[in-house]
Order: sequence, then structure tokens, then C-alpha cells
Amino acid sequence: MAVQKEESKILVFGGTGYIGSYMVKASIKLGHPTYVFSRPNSNKTEMLNQLQSMGAIVVKGAIDEHDKLVLLLREVDVVISALAYPQVLDQLKIIEAIKVAGNIKRFLPSDFGVEEDRVSVLPPFEAFLEKKRKIRRAVEAANIPYTFVSANCCGAYFVNFLLRPYEQTKEIITVYGSGETKAVLVYEEDIGVFTIKAATDLRACNRVVIYRPAANLISQLELISLWEKKTGRSFNKVHLPEEEMVTLSETLPDPQNIPISILHSVFVKGVTSNFELGENDVEASALYPDLKVTSVDELLDIFLCNPPKPAIATFG
Ligand SMILES: NC(=O)c1ccc[n+]([C@@H]2O[C@H](COP(=O)([O-])OP(=O)(O)OC[C@H]3O[C@@H](n4cnc5c(N)ncnc54)[C@H](OP(=O)(O)O)[C@@H]3O)[C@@H](O)[C@H]2O)c1
Repeated sequence: MAVQKEESKILVFGGTGYIGSYMVKASIKLGHPTYVFSRPNSNKTEMLNQLQSMGAIVVKGAIDEHDKLVLLLREVDVVISALAYPQVLDQLKIIEAIKVAGNIKRFLPSDFGVEEDRVSVLPPFEAFLEKKRKIRRAVEAANIPYTFVSANCCGAYFVNFLLRPYEQTKEIITVYGSGETKAVLVYEEDIGVFTIKAATDLRACNRVVIYRPAANLISQLELISLWEKKTGRSFNKVHLPEEEMVTLSETLPDPQNIPISILHSVFVKGVTSNFELGENDVEASALYPDLKVTSVDELLDIFLCNPPKPAIATFG
């Protein structure tokens, strides 16, 4: 009789959130017993119900309930944190609990954006990334087996932001800089699957995994032109020059200065695409060549037929 392989038990912090919910759904689909840690006063009731009905085990608690966290961690194998940016440093509490629990085979902190150890960006975004780097260094110092994920841009999130497909009458699109810099846009469902695969893959242990499939590299001007072809509409492209973006990053109050700094880094400096991947880099689509990845072209088709709701999420 064939012995059935037991799938790793996966716990997701922030699993009701924008990115986290894709990870929870992928984890369930891939057959993992999946736990979602959610605050008692969470307002994500609809998402919690949806995830629960799909099979997620919801555990209510606060991140500073150390003993409770340790007991929960002892029941699982893998921990993924998809906490939002304002809660990034709270992950130090997860790290403390993982150290005490002593059984966690893999921890993925809440990165899921640009490859923070290889980019240099405008000061407001730099301060944002510095907190995420602090978490990476704490994980390494604690000798916790990790996978650090650079998911690059969430595809649907950025399509919504850049093209505003919901605004049927809007004919103006803002182009950041020249619009010619290539950016990496990865559909959130693929981010979910890649992340769960990597979280349980020995080849991704103590490595940075970068999500950069070839069909997901596109410039803003190419994206607009593709959208024009698909919709039959024509847009008036208004460029926001680099100097104005830099000035805005220096003059807008915190935290409004962060999005413009991110847009500058991605669409002017090209931080998601401007460094070569070397032999030692782990790129997700190369790691899982059999997984079908949604190209940007296909992502726009999804927007044409069944547009994902505009997202409320923090850039990253
Ligand atoms: N690359 C990209 O394009 C991109 C885009 C968006 C986000 N990101 C990154 O992805 C990560 C997750 O961001 P996100 O936007 O998905 O997060 P989010 O939806 O804003 O929040 C995730 C979850 O955090 C939990 N949470 C815990 N304490 C909280 C508090 N005090 N206030 C509010 N929520 C709290 C909530 O779960 P409960 O209510 O269940 O407790 C919430 O659902 C971040 O690292 C972010 O930088 C990247």
C-alpha cells in the first residue's frame, strides 16, 4: 500500500489581507493543512468566512500573546507572514516565538516586493525597506530556516493603479518618467502558488526567491498600448517627470511620500528588472517550469472579462 505523503502544515499571519489571502487559498489548494492567525477585532469577517469555508483553520489572537503563539507554532511546520507594512516590526515577536518553539522548518517574513537587499531607492522607500531588512537580519541571526521572497509588483494591484480600468470614462493615464523602463508585474494568484511551493521546497531554504517570469516584464508604455488594443480605447498619456517625482517624495508628508518613491524606484529606476540574475539566484518560474504563469497579456484579458476588484493594499 502506498504511504501518503503528509503535507506541511502552514500558518499564515495576515492571511485575511490583500496578499496573504492568495497564499492561504494556494496553500489549501495545494493540500496543506492551513492555519490563519487573525486578530479578535479583525474587520475582515467576509474573508475569514470565505477562507474558513475553503478549509482554513482560523486561530484568533494577538501577536503579543507570546505563550499562545508558541503553542500554535508547535502545531505547524511552516510560517508565512503577510502582515502589512505598518506591522513589519511586529514580526520580531513572531521571530521570538519561533525561537522558543524550536520546530519551525521555514519562515517567510513579509517581504513580497522589490529585492530589498539589492536596491537603492529614494529615502522614504529606503526607510520602508530598512524595516524589512531589519527583519531579514533578525531571522538570519536567530538561525531560523528562511525563504526571503521578492515577488516584485502585484500584477492586478498595479494594473488597477496604473490603468484605472474601473474608470470607464477616464481618458488620461499618468506615465511615471519616460514610461520605457521595464517592470515585473506578477498576478497575485501566481504569487500565492509560487510562495507556497517555495515555502516547502528545500531548494529555496535559506535563499532569496525572485519572481521574474519573462512574460511578466513590461514597460508602462507597452502596458498602455496593450490595453488600448484590447479595449479599443485611446488614452492621453501625461508624463510625470522624474524631477517632479523626486520633489514630491521630498515634500509630501509621511507616509504619502512612500507610494511616489516606490513608483520612482519601479518605473523610473527599474529596480524590479535592472539587475541580472546570476547562477546563484533562485527565480521562481525557473524553479517551477511546469507551473503555468499568467502573462501580463493574459492578466489584461482577466481585467477585460472579470476584473479583480480595485485593491486596498500597501505597496511593497
Ligand atoms: N509587491 C507589491 O506590489 C505589494 C502590494 C501590496 C503589498 N505588498 C506587501 O505585502 C505584504 C502584506 O501587505 P498587504 O497589503 O497584503 O497587507 P494588508 O492587507 O494591509 O494586511 C494584512 C493583514 O494584517 C493583519 N493585521 C495585523 N495587525 C494589524 C493592524 N494593527 N492593523 C491592520 N491589520 C493588521 C490583518 O489581519 P486580521 O485583520 O485578520 O488580523 C490584515 O488582513 C507587505 O509586506 C506589503 O509591503 C506588496
